[in-house]
Amino acid sequence: MAKILGVGNLVLDTILTLDHYPKEDDEVRAQSRQFRFGGNTANTLYVLSQLGHESAIASTLATDEQAKHLKKAIQDQGISTEHIQRFIKGATPTSYIFVSKHTGSRSITHYRDLPELGFEHFAKIEVEAYDWLHFEGRNMDALPGMLNIAKTFLDRQPISLEIEKARDGIEALFSSANLLLFSHHYAKQKGYQDAESLLKEAHKAAPQANLVCTWGDRGAWCLSASGELHHEPAQPIKQLVDTLGAGDTFNAAIIHHLLAGANLKQAVHQASLLAARKCQQFGLDNLLQPLASRKPIANIKHISSSKATVVPAPGRSHKVVLIKYDDQIKAYENNCPHQDVPLDEAYKIDINPFEMTMKCSVHDAYFRIDDGVCIEGPCWRDELKPVDIEIDSDTGGIYLAE
Ligand code: FRU
Repeated sequence: MAKILGVGNLVLDTILTLDHYPKEDDEVRAQSRQFRFGGNTANTLYVLSQLGHESAIASTLATDEQAKHLKKAIQDQGISTEHIQRFIKGATPTSYIFVSKHTGSRSITHYRDLPELGFEHFAKIEVEAYDWLHFEGRNMDALPGMLNIAKTFLDRQPISLEIEKARDGIEALFSSANLLLFSHHYAKQKGYQDAESLLKEAHKAAPQANLVCTWGDRGAWCLSASGELHHEPAQPIKQLVDTLGAGDTFNAAIIHHLLAGANLKQAVHQASLLAARKCQQFGLDNLLQPLASRKPIANIKHISSSKATVVPAPGRSHKVVLIKYDDQIKAYENNCPHQDVPLDEAYKIDINPFEMTMKCSVHDAYFRIDDGVCIEGPCWRDELKPVDIEIDSDTGGIYLAE
């Protein structure tokens, strides 16, 4: 177990899960809304806590009501808040996030007017007490000074720097870190067509550092300080559920495995596995709890597109209807919104493979399999309630999401 200090943002995420992204000027209804703490560093530290490390966040916090909840939420996950700097000016930074159930991808709209961490505040932290320092590549006013202090006072502790976006002057900081974690957004913003060219260029500016660049479903590339280049293909993903925080998870896993003595290539491989697991569940909770220790409600090999499979769902008030649609498994509560009766109350649920609908056996309401919306029948426009599921990519087990 190591002591890790993360310097970056703490944000309130409001996450709306939608079937599809709305078009501009459209009006849609979200299927669920969740409030969570977020921010790249906070997310990375949360995963590091789950991996058994003692972590602390150096970030700013407002004094509003939301800030109180945020502080408690991260403390509840074992992240120390002793290095937080409070500001009366400004409100809790917020991100409004759409997660599309159709694609699993997310769109983030971020708003902040809270000041960033001050250099003087950071300078008072006893950084020598930590085994690893992780910095978010933002806060360009104070970051050069903070890295300078860290370099001056630390002898054995590695420094990682996340480069998510292009920012003026950030390249001058490459030489201060032992590990540079690039995103493909940064690479693209800087005009690179692939990760390899970015890493080769960055290696010239930071020959002392291990370099990593993730590139979505193309996988990740790494270039060690000794010049060894490696491509790690993306892990197969059975059902993309939620990519929010996948990059932050990846970064945490790299730090964890390097601390445990892995080489860069091994660390990147392990990080890809954990990031893939993250993409197949909502949020970051229980990331390490193997699905195998839970009980599956079904297995994908028994689910077809021509038949609705109804299975018991322990802990829920209705059974679950499972059906294959394109490459996905759709899951809905077995409850017709018309009269709150099971869809298979009178007879089995009929599937129309041409219209891609399923029919309630009681009063013939037709629901689109894709999004559960009733397109014909007594509850026209009402919707079946979707059920969040996770799929184990090794075994095909289908689990209720936690
Ligand atoms: C995900 C995330 C969110 C946060 C946003 C900040 O990587 O950290 O939790 O709201 O990005 O840009």
